[in-house]
Amino acid sequence: PPKFWEISKIIKENISAKKQQALVFEERKQEFRTAFEKLGIMLDVSRTFYPVDFIKRQLDAMALLKMNVFHFHLVDNNGWRIQIDKWPELTRKTAWRIGKDKDEWMAKGCKFVPEGTPGAVGGYYTKEDIKEIVRYAAELNIDVIPEIDVPSHSFSMLCAYPELACENWKAPDCAPVVKVLGEPSPYHCDLCLGNPAVYDFVFSVFDEVAELFPSKYFHIGGDEACAREWASCPKCQDLMQKEGVTNFTDFQNLFTIKAVEHLRKLGKTAIAWDEVICKDLPKDVIVTQWRDNALEADGYQVVKAHEYQTYLCNNQDYIGKEPKGIKIHTPLNAVYDYEPGDTGVRGIEACLWTERCPTEEIAEHQTYPRLAAIAERAWSPKDARNYENFRERVINMHTVWDKMGIRYFDIKSEMYPMHLVPDGIKVNYKESMSHRGKLPDILTMSDGTKFGTMWNKDNLYLAFKGTTVPEISVKGAAVVDASLGRQRNHPG
Ligand code: ACM
Ligand code: ZN
Repeated sequence: PPKFWEISKIIKENISAKKQQALVFEERKQEFRTAFEKLGIMLDVSRTFYPVDFIKRQLDAMALLKMNVFHFHLVDNNGWRIQIDKWPELTRKTAWRIGKDKDEWMAKGCKFVPEGTPGAVGGYYTKEDIKEIVRYAAELNIDVIPEIDVPSHSFSMLCAYPELACENWKAPDCAPVVKVLGEPSPYHCDLCLGNPAVYDFVFSVFDEVAELFPSKYFHIGGDEACAREWASCPKCQDLMQKEGVTNFTDFQNLFTIKAVEHLRKLGKTAIAWDEVICKDLPKDVIVTQWRDNALEADGYQVVKAHEYQTYLCNNQDYIGKEPKGIKIHTPLNAVYDYEPGDTGVRGIEACLWTERCPTEEIAEHQTYPRLAAIAERAWSPKDARNYENFRERVINMHTVWDKMGIRYFDIKSEMYPMHLVPDGIKVNYKESMSHRGKLPDILTMSDGTKFGTMWNKDNLYLAFKGTTVPEISVKGAAVVDASLGRQRNHPG
């Protein structure tokens, strides 16, 4: 049986009713769940593969937080993780690689290798594994929604079956790397949408995957197409002309609509990342909204998964003592204070992208306790929430997580429960540096106070203690104006 039942029993028998109430989170789910009917976590098992036992442990921990959706991001550039009988090369060629995380993999040239190669990292789920995960989740009332991310983020797919690529595509030698949004990325990775065989291929993958997951929903990805090859591929150009399409958003939409229709025939409702929004997108598609600028989500049902407040890959504390992470500062209180709005909002989702979570321990460290904050946020109305009280209950939860073997971030060790400086604050830096430059990891203020800093690509974050914006100046500083803004695109 799920470990969850065992843990529930231990809690019931050993912890007083009052103390039970004091665990995260408060037992108000039924009362408030009308607001957000779905509460999920997305786990990326492409960037790092995790074994079935790890998945089960996360499902147990989700159940304790009354979460009900497990969004399984099964494939991406960095590895294919699910057995597909019709296309065996997917797992034979691209489930194993050299390099424990994205950075190391890229530094070593984005190499996939056969299983058993010395130093190979990876794995995939067999159909039996998937059935076991789905069965286990069902006992916990958790719906498992698969994601096959197309038509981009498809590097592993193209390496396994290069005929799915545009005519001029060539598997990139990742050293020297292609830079996308300031981050190295294996980005020549869109499927050729001008080739009818690509549709047949993708839909046959959908067929096999859909059969394994009883969920009503199926996530088709759709994020971050780069369109680089579409622009010069004769097949893509022909189709664009034939359909009278003049931009790549509409071009991708031709594909999305066919995918949505195919899924409908399988009895599934499609979900996709917000890039797919387009005037012709059927209104029954559910949109996972991860960016601020997807305002056009109007009229669609959305699951909110904001890249700043719900991305668990972001750093949660001073970067000098934390795992590598994505250098955006998302402390526990920022997650707890998430205000997703409510018009059309079906649910909230935390996302763990695992480019930099090469071990189970790091993945759990990134996830807990922030997942608890998402859970309480989703099930509680605003006036019932109180961060200080929640933080105390998170600490009570440590005993439970310890029993389950969950390796959480200890909130008691938090150095910087920080807040973002709002846009447009002027900052004096210690050294002259450009607006787009990197901040030092620690800034020492003129009064000796130390601040941790976070930055990301061309937008800077400055983190500070307290709830009001301090006057910030640094001794001997060259004055540089910094326009402090929000991070936009998450690197692939
Ligand atoms: C995403 O972060 N690319 C959905
Ligand atoms: Zn093409």
